[in-house]
Amino acid sequence: MWLNSVSTILLAMVPAEGVAADLSHLNKKSKVTGYAFDKKDRAIEKAAACLTGCHLVLVPAGVPRKPGQDRKDLLNINCGIAKNIVEACAKYCPEAVVALIVNPVNSVVPAMCELWKKKGLKPGKILGVTSLDVVRVGKFVHELTGETIEDIDVPVIGGHAGTTILPLFSQCPSASAISVLKIPDLDKKVQDAGTVVVAAKNGKGSATLSMAYAGARLGRAVLAGLNGEASVECAYVASTVTELPYFASKVAFGKDGVETIHPIGDLNEYEKGRLAALTPVLLDEINAGLEYAKENA
Ligand code: LMR
Repeated sequence: MWLNSVSTILLAMVPAEGVAADLSHLNKKSKVTGYAFDKKDRAIEKAAACLTGCHLVLVPAGVPRKPGQDRKDLLNINCGIAKNIVEACAKYCPEAVVALIVNPVNSVVPAMCELWKKKGLKPGKILGVTSLDVVRVGKFVHELTGETIEDIDVPVIGGHAGTTILPLFSQCPSASAISVLKIPDLDKKVQDAGTVVVAAKNGKGSATLSMAYAGARLGRAVLAGLNGEASVECAYVASTVTELPYFASKVAFGKDGVETIHPIGDLNEYEKGRLAALTPVLLDEINAGLEYAKENA
């Protein structure tokens, strides 16, 4: 099921018409249309109607992990799902920014960028949504320090799984009151936050509501940029700011989507150690995505 809301697409397991009716009651200036891809013969026609003219396609798709699973266990199944959507975007809205909320983000984004490049499109149009890590760290720092949530801006760099999630507490003045002794546990809490939700949902899914909130945050940043307003948000993109070809860091959005990928800035010794340790882990996950693209071109 795909649902088209102005320029946003959502996927869900409940009937498209139901999700569309539900969303249509939000008192926002938007038109909501549901597209159910239940009949194969009309899929192309529906994809065209759904995607043509989109500026931003937000893709919260794929199978969630179960307790005990890693995000990377979902690579083949979720890459297959993302591939269909990305191919449809390449065909019907090749200029759109395609923001993937599809796990494992660390591998799916490189895989989809490669497939997108093969179609002759700009890989800078595809990004992985990592805003939920920024949202989570903001909440956790607030709980620990009592600082105003809106003032807390901890960049989260690297990737979106386990140790590849690296919050840079040293770059956030609101986090400066936190004792260095508490940082490793807080860091781990951010890394494990998705797993905590998966365990609490007990086999019935992973984060959806906080993820929708985070996806909206990223969507707003992209749309502001497309509208000519300065906007910055962390995202996982093809990057040259480190030795890794894909990396999450602060990204400035502009009229063409990703405009500038900000350097990671100064790191303290703890963060430098974490970056060194996560680099081979993230590289393996990137390579798994590139391998998928090679085998499924
Ligand atoms: C999250 O961080 O909540 C998502 O990536 C879903 C998951 O599997 O943890």
